[in-house]
Amino acid sequence: MCGIVGYVGHRPALDVVLGGLRRMEYRGYDSAGVAVLDGAGALTVERKAGRLANLEAELDAVGRDNFAGTAGMGHTRWATHGAPIDRNSHPHRDTSQRVAIVHNGIIENFAALRAELEADGVEMASDTDSETAAHLVARAYAEGDTKGDFAASVAAVCRRLEGAFTLVVTHADEPDTIVAARRSSPLVVGVGDGEHFVASDVAAFIEHTREAVELGQDQLVVITREGYDVRDFHGDAAQAKPFTVDWDLSAAEKGGHEYFMLKEIEEQPEALANTLRGHFESGRIILDEQRISDQDLRDVDKVFVVACGSAYHSGLVAKYAIEHWTRLPVEVELASEFRYRDPVLDRDTLVVAVSQSGETADTLEAVRHAREQKARVLAVCNTNGAQIPRESDAVLYTHAGPEIGVASTKAFLAQIAANYLVGLALAQARGTKYPDEVAREFAELEAMPAAVQKVLSTVEQTRDLGRRIADSRAVLFLGRHVGFPVALEGALKLKELAYMHAEGFAAGELKHGPIALIEDGLPVVVVMPSPKGRAVLHSKLVSNISEIQARGARTIVIAEEGDETVRPFADELIEVPAVPTLLQPLVSTVPLQVLAAEIARARGYDVDKPRNLAKSVTVE
Ligand code: M6R
Repeated sequence: MCGIVGYVGHRPALDVVLGGLRRMEYRGYDSAGVAVLDGAGALTVERKAGRLANLEAELDAVGRDNFAGTAGMGHTRWATHGAPIDRNSHPHRDTSQRVAIVHNGIIENFAALRAELEADGVEMASDTDSETAAHLVARAYAEGDTKGDFAASVAAVCRRLEGAFTLVVTHADEPDTIVAARRSSPLVVGVGDGEHFVASDVAAFIEHTREAVELGQDQLVVITREGYDVRDFHGDAAQAKPFTVDWDLSAAEKGGHEYFMLKEIEEQPEALANTLRGHFESGRIILDEQRISDQDLRDVDKVFVVACGSAYHSGLVAKYAIEHWTRLPVEVELASEFRYRDPVLDRDTLVVAVSQSGETADTLEAVRHAREQKARVLAVCNTNGAQIPRESDAVLYTHAGPEIGVASTKAFLAQIAANYLVGLALAQARGTKYPDEVAREFAELEAMPAAVQKVLSTVEQTRDLGRRIADSRAVLFLGRHVGFPVALEGALKLKELAYMHAEGFAAGELKHGPIALIEDGLPVVVVMPSPKGRAVLHSKLVSNISEIQARGARTIVIAEEGDETVRPFADELIEVPAVPTLLQPLVSTVPLQVLAAEIARARGYDVDKPRNLAKSVTVE
């Protein structure tokens, strides 16, 4: 959702800010805007509904020379309060037009603040919650204890705001300074040579610096050319955590691919290898920032996995492995439902919160609820220092690199691998697996990047199939055991990318209702288990396929290489390498990603930016 960037340095700010906004486009947005300080007291703002290209065209029309200056900020907005139209786009200014703000999050007490401002005679120029902050900062800077003190004025306003926010503020009186603040919403500082950045995401400044600083909760930073200064909302000096970004600009570029998603599908072997690297040493599974002791892990008597979307599907896959390895009950729950149903949690419950972005509001709230109930929370996350790992007891980072396509691909596979590491760590601590068994499971995981690479070398057939079924009205997906969450993931990919009706089912449920949907020519994708590893399930699924084929379905079967029994029932057969049963999702998901992307392309859609969706869903 909203992307924010601010800059003070020696380069033309407009170029830096637009470059940063371009790199954050993947977060999802429906309007964009910029503000530039010219150093001589002028603050120039432009904003436009729609894509960044609309804003750029407007900047060309009014003349980019009007935006000369080496300090500025920009914003991409995903509308929450007020329609996505020009006047609701950020930056917002106060009445004197001296203060400008950009905001991410929701100011929950905005109605009261707005009423207070209106009673004071302020005329609101937008329908947003955000605009209130601009007027409040202007007022705090003009009068009272904080008069003339820019940072203190912003801090005073932050103390009054309720909800989640990242705010970046400029004041025409302070043209060489930007003040930014955060509560429960992302903000990182980029540290350059004679230049500093603030942004929602390191991608915004990665082409200029990899040195970053992670701000803590309720912290504020003042950036100038010379440095940065972190304080709390009361103005006291505060500690923030410096880090070096472990990927570079090339990871955030398409590298010759038509879409980021296609590049990210190809990066999956590397994402898996990087996620596993360093986690098995001296015969033991090692997690990352482990603030949960081995004794705590031994005491665990129940595991919850909470997550949304694809991350939730990764949890469904992990349930099979964790229960099998540890004999602990595992419940997988949609984060958006979790806290509203009063789940039974206590200090012996381990909650695994899975999130690529680490910003997903539903998952964050589930983490908070779990911690309030004294459960221990372990985050599985792909984004260094994001809010979810920050609020958890421990974190295991997936090292998939930046995922820019809205559809999760490499992050999903990396989440499965990381969830499995959690399961093995639990089995190791609890002694439900001998050390040599843990070592063997890890070795099998380590062989998976090569298996995924093999799948990638044969996807041309799947692409061709995608083009041939692109005008279907709907597609169904069936699976059993670990193939069931794969079916759900395949359906989710197709829905979000191709805007096509798609449903995933446990194949055993077919006769309890969904079989009524089968009609002539309906494509049905079936994820087969191994004929050797899961012989009983395999034969049941073969019966399911023959039942739907008899009713006219066009069967598309994902099966293990050499699975001859299923061949007569497959109108289209996609073969994947034979791997241990629990690892099958890592190979069988890949053709489904390719299928969805190809159908979407054939239908003329942008697979990186599907309609209505945002990469980071920072509102509940
Ligand atoms: O950043 P998160 O992993 O928390 O995101 C969760 C979901 O929003 C995400 O997986 C979403 O379902 C993807 N667009 C699916 O491709």
